[in-house]
Amino acid sequence: MKSSTILTICLLLVALALSALLGVVIHRSTQQDEESTEGNLSELEKYIQKQDSSYSYRILPEYTTRGRDDSYTIFVLNMTSQTWLSSTKVTHTKWWHYMTVIIPDEITYTDVGCLYVTGDYNSDAPRNPLQDPEFRLVASLSSRIGIVCAMQRQNPNGPIKFFEDPENKYRRSDDLIAYTFKYFMEGHRDDPEAILVLPMVKSVVRAMDTITDFADQRIQKFFVCGASKRGWATWLTAAVDDRVIGIMPLVMDFLNMQPNFAHHYRSMNGWSWALKDYWYHNVTNYLTDPANVILTDIVDPFSYLDKLKLPKFIVTAGSDEFFLPDDSHYFYDKMMGPTYLRVHPNTDHILIGRYRELVDEAVGFINIILENGTLPKLTWRRTDGSGIGRITVHSDIEPINITAWKANTFTDSRRDFRVIVARTPNTTDVKPQVTVYRDIGVSRVGANYTATVETPKSGWSCFFIEMTFPAPKGSHIVVTTEVNIIPDTFPAENCNGAECKGTLV
Ligand SMILES: *[C@@H]1O[C@H](CO)[C@@H](O)[C@H](O)[C@H]1NC(C)=O
Ligand SMILES: *[C@@H]1O[C@H](CO)[C@@H](O)[C@H](O)[C@H]1NC(C)=O
Ligand SMILES: *[C@@H]1O[C@H](CO)[C@@H](O)[C@H](O)[C@H]1NC(C)=O
Ligand SMILES: *[C@@H]1O[C@H](CO)[C@@H](O)[C@H](O)[C@H]1NC(C)=O
Ligand SMILES: *[C@@H]1O[C@H](CO)[C@@H](O)[C@H](O)[C@H]1NC(C)=O
Ligand SMILES: *[C@@H]1O[C@H](CO)[C@@H](O)[C@H](O)[C@H]1NC(C)=O
Ligand SMILES: *[C@@H]1O[C@H](CO)[C@@H](O)[C@H](O)[C@H]1NC(C)=O
Repeated sequence: MKSSTILTICLLLVALALSALLGVVIHRSTQQDEESTEGNLSELEKYIQKQDSSYSYRILPEYTTRGRDDSYTIFVLNMTSQTWLSSTKVTHTKWWHYMTVIIPDEITYTDVGCLYVTGDYNSDAPRNPLQDPEFRLVASLSSRIGIVCAMQRQNPNGPIKFFEDPENKYRRSDDLIAYTFKYFMEGHRDDPEAILVLPMVKSVVRAMDTITDFADQRIQKFFVCGASKRGWATWLTAAVDDRVIGIMPLVMDFLNMQPNFAHHYRSMNGWSWALKDYWYHNVTNYLTDPANVILTDIVDPFSYLDKLKLPKFIVTAGSDEFFLPDDSHYFYDKMMGPTYLRVHPNTDHILIGRYRELVDEAVGFINIILENGTLPKLTWRRTDGSGIGRITVHSDIEPINITAWKANTFTDSRRDFRVIVARTPNTTDVKPQVTVYRDIGVSRVGANYTATVETPKSGWSCFFIEMTFPAPKGSHIVVTTEVNIIPDTFPAENCNGAECKGTLV
């Protein structure tokens, strides 16, 4: 086989294996201002603050070990974060998590910790950290910065069955999240705690408590990072807990959910197959329903904008199978405080092939915050007209590298830049699709850099500018503009009511 074929097949297999990743919802936030006003706690905030005596953790001494390069010690804890709902409603109420804590021999910042949130099935034994590739990335971050870091697993817990589930089924991950959305919207509006995102966020808060209690009482500031539904929990944890001083949500940029998902539908003439659980549970039907407003007021990070002034490094994928490259158009301008976007070209929802960059740039981001480094002030303009699309970005700091990336859609019928698509509509029978972002360079006038793309006669082009900036201690950060998709037309109209169910593509 040609190596490119092997590569796409590998990509597909890995993506399938991990496609359990994220989640999605839908929203319209009309009341976000009141919602997050002091003294008027959202259901999320109430749930976080609710007393729960079941929190505890235990060290599993048999797993204590030294890191591979002998510069840090690894401890594995078994942490119970909370009791969720009651045993009359669900089969599993006690949420617990394996936490792997990395304590570097040389700690540079004694008052700062970091937390990487991820998933897993509940199981009798934790994974061996030395053989866990995800863990190695976190360990590398911990020792390069010189802070205590931890990885939290089993967020969300699962599998779990609701006794009233007509399908009488144990569910986990997106299937469980989508089930709880439907449960809330269809007849259980009085039970917001059932929305799975709430216990997910609370378990992150408890994971921070655990790091402080176990490693060092001085640790009162945290960086939090997580991917996909854990990216969602990352956003919301920052909104409810002011110990968080910086976040790096990965592949989770559907803020302002209702218009963002309406845009997904119009762009794709349906829903990406990756959203199958939300589609299956009819959550997509609710796109324009008032029940969705109530749900998304609670779970949309956009409802908490005034609590999200901290530095944010939002990492997305140019070929994500859950989200579209231009989701940021629905929230970026409204963000308060330092907000940086990093679109990775030529990768998908699991950011395959970009792990070294992820860690390098996380180091740069954290160094800038901890060393009072300077983040660039960027402004950009996206235009399209007379057959030419442009992005012009102005930077107050000279980038050490700058270029632009462009991809074309492989079809004229969708604004679709994915690399894994449905082979058969309404199924998750998928196939690889060649979508390539090519380096197109930029032109420069003074401190302004411009990427120029001809508006395609059919289909769409997506492009953005990527800039590298120096960060303290020899590190660096890479940030991008938002993407420009030209022409700015859509293959479908907005959907309404039940027709928003749509087709999986
Ligand atoms: C709290 O927020 C809700 C929902 O936005 C609003 O209806 C209510 O009036 C607010 N209450 C107070 C006391 O501000
Ligand atoms: C961790 O705690 C949970 C809940 O108490 C328990 O079911 C599990 O067996 C524990 N794991 C280990 C390795 O002790
Ligand atoms: C989704 O809606 C359809 C049509 O109303 C219904 O037949 C189906 O049972 C619903 N599915 C779920 C999982 O609730
Ligand atoms: C960064 O600024 C803060 C607040 O002004 C200060 O407390 C801290 O010592 C500074 N850190 C460094 C490394 O300069
Ligand atoms: C600058 O960016 C280009 C395009 O991504 C890359 O090929 C090159 O290695 C980068 N140079 C540096 C110094 O990072
Ligand atoms: C650079 O762009 C800014 C607006 O973003 C504009 O005011 C300025 O005139 C431009 N400078 C040059 C040299 O083109
Ligand atoms: C996919 O399923 C939905 C809901 O059942 C239906 O409305 C739609 O027509 C189906 N699409 C195709 C192409 O079969």
